[in-house]
Amino acid sequence: MTQAVWTEVDQYFTGQLVPHDHALDATLAASNAAGLPAINVAPNQGKLLNLLAQIRGARRILEIGTLGGYSTIWLARALPPDGRLVTMEYDRRHAEVARANIARAGLADRVDVRVGAALELLPALARERPEPFDLFFIDADKQSNADYFRWALRLCRVGSLIIVDNVVRGGRVVDGRSDDPGVVGTRRLIDAMAAEPRVTATAVQTVGSKSYDGFAMALVIA
Ligand code: SAH
Ligand code: DHB
Ligand code: MG
Repeated sequence: MTQAVWTEVDQYFTGQLVPHDHALDATLAASNAAGLPAINVAPNQGKLLNLLAQIRGARRILEIGTLGGYSTIWLARALPPDGRLVTMEYDRRHAEVARANIARAGLADRVDVRVGAALELLPALARERPEPFDLFFIDADKQSNADYFRWALRLCRVGSLIIVDNVVRGGRVVDGRSDDPGVVGTRRLIDAMAAEPRVTATAVQTVGSKSYDGFAMALVIA
């Protein structure tokens, strides 16, 4: 089975279950026109994030890695009208494109796009003593994944869900001798999840239009 089949199957499922939607289509078009890399989650993955947020009854969501706001919009749409999503983005241009996309989707009142390095923005956010976040989507620089997981543990409550994108990267994650910072960072994340008694976690491999990758997920139980 190859990439062509994975893409065709994604197109089949997406065509049936994830109807085209003006705001999301326009988000990808505007992101592409602005030269942003096409590394957003796939439509059926975005919908999975939306369903997980609905299942969780999430009222407060923290995302790390906004890009053009595609996953942001999927997640924010699961919020109730008084819900809130904070998303962190290092690249000022990505954040500007995301803000316009989020506004076009009618979600500007619920979404707070913060610009800067997440490891600088997270301590600032913590100092605000925010209400705990119900769901985290970690999807930025992979070398910092273990640090982002630890920050999520500081900002969560019992019952919060922590989702991390891109933990497989074509299978490279199994190479314990790799010096690729993304692989090293993801392996440190999995070690941290395994060692942390406050969570119960799993990780799954995925194939599809975004190639061969996967998600890790941890539920906060204490
Ligand atoms: N979640 C998005 C994709 C994010 S791509 C989606 O699925 O639609 C990863 C993003 O993380 C990029 O926009 C990149 O600029 C940003 N990023 C990289 N390092 C970062 C850091 N240290 N802090 C915050 N954002 C970072
Ligand atoms: C990359 C980042 C992502 O978040 C993703 O989903 C796919 C690729 C990347 O940096 O190449
Ligand atoms: Mg990703």
